[in-house]
Amino acid sequence: MTARQSGPGRRWGLVLAALGAGLLCGALALPVRPSTAAAAPAATRTPVMLQTPDRLKAPPTVEHPSQADTGAQVFWLNCQPCHGDQGQGLTDEWRAQYPPEDQNCWESRCHGDRPYDDGFTLPHVVPAVIGPGSLSRFASAADLHTFISAAMPFQAPGSLSADEYWALTAFLLRAHAVATPNPPLASAEQAALIGLHGPVTPPAPTPTPTPPAPPLWQRPGGPWLWLAGLGAALVAAAALLRWARGRAHGSA
Ligand code: HEC
Repeated sequence: MTARQSGPGRRWGLVLAALGAGLLCGALALPVRPSTAAAAPAATRTPVMLQTPDRLKAPPTVEHPSQADTGAQVFWLNCQPCHGDQGQGLTDEWRAQYPPEDQNCWESRCHGDRPYDDGFTLPHVVPAVIGPGSLSRFASAADLHTFISAAMPFQAPGSLSADEYWALTAFLLRAHAVATPNPPLASAEQAALIGLHGPVTPPAPTPTPTPPAPPLWQRPGGPWLWLAGLGAALVAAAALLRWARGRAHGSA
């Protein structure tokens, strides 16, 4: 009895297992199609943002920030809006990252000729500060630091702390593949030794001008030479006179 029942029972079990496995494989092999029923109705969907918000985001914080890491945060907050996330300057491509209503920086109510109250007029060219050819007018970290401390951010020159300007300098050095200084930058003397585009050339020593040669009688030994010359000339003149007189006598 048990043997008769277990025979067909086991066979059915095997058939069912094979069917189940087949179905599972089939299901896995099927291309995944989004279910149309689950999709939200088109009318209620939020409009797709065209800009990539990630590029406007703060740089990631690190656990033990170096001076340049700190500078990256300061740059993001104070400089990136104008100079770009890659330091590329206010390019069309960078402006396109902003919400559409903020993309025309030079509108008359924005930063154009007639800015909004307490606003400022922005030059049409905001230069790159990172990338080939940028910062070429600054030879050393000190030159760069002096400029940004006095003139940037453009709308509020000199408004950052001393530490922040040094951090920005360290960040820009790193972005220009210049070894960041250790100990951290803190003085103009230290920064003057760091070249932005190769080693800083120390100012060439001004050649000491060679004084004009003194007149003969003022040179060492000069008076004696002079006297000797004079003596020789006198002797020669006397000899000439004598010879001339001798000839005159002879002919007479
Ligand atoms: C509101 C826009 C704006 C902001 C913000 C701004 N800048 Fe500028 N930056 C400019 C403009 C415009 C110039 C070109 C005019 C000039 O040299 O004064 C410039 C020039 C520079 C230059 C000179 C580049 C070169 O090669 O001539 C440096 C370096 C610089 N900025 C660094 C910074 C730093 C660092 C910050 C942040 C603290 C900053 N800027 C913030 C607009 C801005």
